[in-house]
Amino acid sequence: MVDNQPLDRRPGSSTSGRTAADDAIVFEHVRKEYADGTVAVGDLSLAVRRHEILALVGPSGCGKSTTLRMTNRLVEPTSGRIVVEGTDVTREDRVRLRRSMGYVIQSVGLFPHRTVAQNVATVPGLVGWDRRRARARASELLELVGLDPDRYGKRYPHELSGGEQQRVGVARALATDPPVLLMDEPFGAVDPAGRRRLQEEFHRIQRELGTTVMLVTHDIDEAVRLGDRVAVFSRGGVVEQLDDPVAVLSRPATDAVSDLVGDGAPVRLLGITRVSREDATAGGPPAPDAPVVRVGDTLAAALEAVAEASTGAGGAEAGAGVGGRVAVLPSDAPADARADHPGVLGTLDAAGVLAALRRAVEPEPADRSDPAA
Ligand SMILES: Nc1ncnc2c1ncn2[C@@H]1O[C@H](COP(=O)(O)OP(=O)(O)O)[C@@H](O)[C@H]1O
Ligand SMILES: [Mg+2]
Repeated sequence: MVDNQPLDRRPGSSTSGRTAADDAIVFEHVRKEYADGTVAVGDLSLAVRRHEILALVGPSGCGKSTTLRMTNRLVEPTSGRIVVEGTDVTREDRVRLRRSMGYVIQSVGLFPHRTVAQNVATVPGLVGWDRRRARARASELLELVGLDPDRYGKRYPHELSGGEQQRVGVARALATDPPVLLMDEPFGAVDPAGRRRLQEEFHRIQRELGTTVMLVTHDIDEAVRLGDRVAVFSRGGVVEQLDDPVAVLSRPATDAVSDLVGDGAPVRLLGITRVSREDATAGGPPAPDAPVVRVGDTLAAALEAVAEASTGAGGAEAGAGVGGRVAVLPSDAPADARADHPGVLGTLDAAGVLAALRRAVEPEPADRSDPAA
């Protein structure tokens, strides 16, 4: 256990200039002992910063759901204090509290006898919006989660796929634009490809709305993809490490974190680290038919393009080592831009991808402009 101290004093986390006012959810020495004596959470102190996604990840039974459910008082803490947006939750009316926070769970929990639109409009209705406004909001939210309101609004939940139901669950939770959203294995019931897509779309929506999110998952991939920070839990609600995803993957603080991260850390790092402008090397122009990557693409995508360059017609350079060179374009280059795009920033090869990865996992280099770094 390394993280039982207040966040601001944690070594290595960039907390300079932060104040408690930047925290949307604060746990102070929270304990939950169930009636049968199970200590689900022993002594948890933790803060979720405003507008961030904090992912709680850990093996089954380590206290993640209990932690989440104490936040909206579906579970009452035995002791300690939880403050959400400046309010001690035990002093707030439970029903009001629950309506002020979005809550998304794996089994979705849609109302089977209400249409999709009615499901999404539930909380707006409960908090007193008139029907027209609630309906308009439902359409807006369905649009936001990628479901055509005209097509889906009148359907019933059983007429949707699992992934579509999850989207409706997210839309419903966001209907009143709550400052805080609690999510418990929200994409668990979706197949892997659909899950990836949902994760990406959810990320975009969260950035757009600025919602503070506490996300519970047992899936380290989901945690590092979605979390701005990741809290790795072990049994009893013990925080083994609370850090940004790259640090969790590349510098696990304890054996429990290493076990969770497993052997897949390098591959996962490639999936969450992105091509930056500095990664493009000058030098000769790329071959006009070279594959392209954009600033902001994942290194995994870049590596794939490099591999393609090595086998694609004309892309390979004899003796250039593994793979070929790809052209690096700015993030806003048009979708059909090719390697001869006038805005091309340079090229990238396999060694460049590895250098980018190395740079990403290095703890805060003293001088970022040092070419040897
Ligand atoms: N209502 C309950 N009564 C007794 N024990 C419970 C109850 N809910 C959860 N637990 C126990 O608390 C521990 C933590 O559970 P939970 O928070 O659901 O873990 P996680 O979400 O990480 O899988 C587990 O040992 C679980 O069996
Ligand atoms: Mg759980």
